[in-house]
Amino acid sequence: MEKHYAVIGDPIEHSLSPIMHNAGYQALGVDAQYQRFQVQAGLLAEAVKGLQALGFSGWNVTLPHKESIIAYLDVLTPQAMRAGAVNTVKIHEGKLIGHNTDGDGFVLSVAEELKEFKGKKAVLLGSGGASKGIALALAEQGMNLHILNRTPGKAKDLAQVIQGQGGTATSGEFSPGEWLRDVDLLVQTTSVGLKREPFPFPLTGISAQALVVDIIFNPMETPFLKEAKKLGCRTQNGLGMLLYQGALAWEFWFDGQAPVEEMRQALKQRLLERMFYKH
Ligand code: ATR
Repeated sequence: MEKHYAVIGDPIEHSLSPIMHNAGYQALGVDAQYQRFQVQAGLLAEAVKGLQALGFSGWNVTLPHKESIIAYLDVLTPQAMRAGAVNTVKIHEGKLIGHNTDGDGFVLSVAEELKEFKGKKAVLLGSGGASKGIALALAEQGMNLHILNRTPGKAKDLAQVIQGQGGTATSGEFSPGEWLRDVDLLVQTTSVGLKREPFPFPLTGISAQALVVDIIFNPMETPFLKEAKKLGCRTQNGLGMLLYQGALAWEFWFDGQAPVEEMRQALKQRLLERMFYKH
């Protein structure tokens, strides 16, 4: 029998999750369909009931529902509890289970380039929801974190959350500094660059050993990543995180390995089409 999956959020029209998951179903001959639904903030309870009534087996959750959906779920996985947010729901024996694959998805994407995490230094730029998920996952891998944010209080709060969970984290000013010299992994999680605007400060002096990641994937190369590349660093955009959070959601739903390469190709293809045809 055909199974049904979806992503809910608002806005949702540009979500690439349907493209990625449906390409995976096609590649492995899985009898399933993945759709996207716009769900306004005030209508989440009705949407969850509706998805259940319609026989959906699971769904992804994106902004603005990642935290508010928890009130409607029966069980949370340790990853969801740790993040205090859910991006994947599965219905299992009538129960709604909330999971979070964002942080571990980020770790898997970075692991394509970074061979060791433990004891290495990660600097995070930004302290919003995306940054928190990433920070918690990197701290769990044993990285030492340094968090910088335009509003310094938020970086401090996030560092305290990490410390509270047994991780190592400090916070500092949102400006260039000594940290550039010995950073192993630099992660840009703010919204700066979405409109191709330059990053507020230069990366001059950054260690050439550093892997520099921007979680933005559209544009595929932000001015921030361009600069890091010019300075000799390896770079990654946010496509890897999107891909691996999706692959981990797949594995949570189907208990089997996701066809990561086919899913990656589908995402790349779609982004290229968007670049050329602007849709
Ligand atoms: P998300 O959940 O996607 O991470 P968010 O919670 O709105 O989004 O967080 C946005 C992040 O981008 C914050 O760290 C924000 O910094 P502030 O906490 O100071 O607002 C950061 N940000 C947004 N615009 C920025 C800018 N022009 N310069 C520096 N940081 C910026």
